[in-house]
Amino acid sequence: MTPAMKPGVKRVGILISGRGSNMVALLEGMRAGEIPAEPAVVVSNDPGAAGLAKARAYGVATAVVPQQEFKGKGRQAHDEAVAAELDRHGVEIVCLAGYMRILSPWFVERYHGRLLNIHPALLPSFPGLHGAKQALDHGVRVTGCTVHFVDAQVDHGPIVAQAAVAVQPGDTEETLASRILEQEHRVYPLALRLLAEGRLTIEGHRVAVAGEEPGFPQAVISPDPGDPLASR
Ligand code: GAR
Repeated sequence: MTPAMKPGVKRVGILISGRGSNMVALLEGMRAGEIPAEPAVVVSNDPGAAGLAKARAYGVATAVVPQQEFKGKGRQAHDEAVAAELDRHGVEIVCLAGYMRILSPWFVERYHGRLLNIHPALLPSFPGLHGAKQALDHGVRVTGCTVHFVDAQVDHGPIVAQAAVAVQPGDTEETLASRILEQEHRVYPLALRLLAEGRLTIEGHRVAVAGEEPGFPQAVISPDPGDPLASR
């Protein structure tokens, strides 16, 4: 236990590469006391990530492990340096929040069952980049976002929570992505809360949520408020 660790309160490390709006949603949820967890450190692979300044504004420690410095040394060498930062801050749970780097099997194994990612689509549909554009191009009527445990494949592991977003006539990639993002900011704190409360069990590719009852799925947000589906 690190000295700063409060009993029952999990220490969370957040990995970012960019603006960090999901990171802010998690920090807000922890600050509000809705999640029995506290932010330990925010780590970026990119020194220019705008989210770093936002983390500091919340009084959260930050670290940068620039991936350029690890060119030619292999993916795991970079991940080991990231893990060293996480260890230094006593991190128990890791949240990827727009961390645009594929993780080594070593890292994924090390944080098995305590490593979450958010993706802007209803997985297993539309993994990879540009989830909203992929949904529009495919012509789906409903898309959304997914929080999942990370496994060896990109945007693939056991699903913790999902939120649905209806595709509207006239949607562009930007309008759809921004409505999905609003739901990301709701579903990620929800998923972290369930994990920090110790309510998640991975069973194969499924995740059981302790305390869920039929008719009241706790890890689903559907549909988003203002969605025409809501009034039908
Ligand atoms: C979010 O939309 C997140 O779902 C996505 O990157 C964005 C990061 O935004 N992640 C992926 O596409 C992972 N495959 P943020 O930096 O404002 O949180």
